[in-house]
Amino acid sequence: MSKKVLVTGGTGYIGSHTLVDLIENGYDVISVDNNSRSTIGMLEGVEKITGKKIKNYKVDLCNIDETRAIFEENSSIIGVIHFAAYKAVGESVEKPLLYFHNNMQSLINVMQCIQDFNIPNFVFSSSCTVYGNPDKIPVTEETPRKQAESPYGLTKQMGEQMIESFAASNNKTNSILLRYFNPAGAHASALIGELPIDRPQNLTPVITQTAIGKISQLTVFGNDYATRDGSCIRDMIHVCDLAHAHTLALNYLIEGKNKSNCEVFNIGSGDGITVLESIKAFEETTGEKLNYVIGPRRPGDVIAIYANNDKAKKELGWIPKYDIKDIMHSAWKWEQYIEKLPTHLDLPNKRLN
Ligand code: UD1
Repeated sequence: MSKKVLVTGGTGYIGSHTLVDLIENGYDVISVDNNSRSTIGMLEGVEKITGKKIKNYKVDLCNIDETRAIFEENSSIIGVIHFAAYKAVGESVEKPLLYFHNNMQSLINVMQCIQDFNIPNFVFSSSCTVYGNPDKIPVTEETPRKQAESPYGLTKQMGEQMIESFAASNNKTNSILLRYFNPAGAHASALIGELPIDRPQNLTPVITQTAIGKISQLTVFGNDYATRDGSCIRDMIHVCDLAHAHTLALNYLIEGKNKSNCEVFNIGSGDGITVLESIKAFEETTGEKLNYVIGPRRPGDVIAIYANNDKAKKELGWIPKYDIKDIMHSAWKWEQYIEKLPTHLDLPNKRLN
């Protein structure tokens, strides 16, 4: 049986870690990424870790002809994992149309090809952002999707609903929507990790860039929330645990274990950690002192969210292996590694320096 999987956004943060996990679990991978927010240099890391050469198509998935050509050139694809999308919450507020166009058109084109080429399995990169500000935590897969807090969040909600409608009309493809909580950390080798293209917005890269001196000071966005220390609560999930969830989701579909042709899983650690606790975890794990101040709340932030991950554990057999210390340790190792990289890799944040 074919083990060929097409990974869109393969040179991105979660995509690159998933390529590694798929290869380590016997899959053949093809990557498609236009590198608009990532670098092809990331595949060098994947190749070093796995010892496998990876084919990447530098294609914009908003272009249906070029997208179709990938499927024409590669017969017997057993599954598509679709990561490729823009994901900066703040940018989406400033440029909603950019987000609607890029994230929705690419998804439509991918689904069109899945339908036309009879691809049996589809895994979609969704997010806990679809829950908005939940009434009750932890959230289960049955927790209702509330009003999206940003255009980015709206693209994930619309994406899920489009796939649900597609699944209802198409009995040849089985789909899984994976709702990620807060991915963080890097591969233990430090050969791949998160590479923000601009000043990072997400907490962990802000922490590591502050520690290394690229950012002069970290601002904690609010310490007056109704939480145990006043800062927001999140669910940090190690990117390698998250990557493995994709392999298990694909196995689950291929083995025909799915209960319906579109299923949803929360992929989070199941533990809530505050922003201040995350900072402390970094300091304790690495011995580095962080320069931080308390600032005002960031508009659009959800107060507290973490996952009930029972369904993924029970159905997919997924067991997160890494904790917050592993996250901070690996993220710090990666930050130190990219600092020393030669510029020939053309890493986006090297260009900024
Ligand atoms: C957001 C999205 C999430 C998406 C992710 C990807 C929402 C509700 N969540 O996650 O779906 O997958 O972005 O980009 O839309 N913080 C600081 N100082 C900083 C940076 C962050 O205090 O300099 C705090 C934030 O206020 C927040 C927490 O750290 O409470 C986590 O923030 P961040 O890493 O940006 O992730 P989310 O906003 O949770």
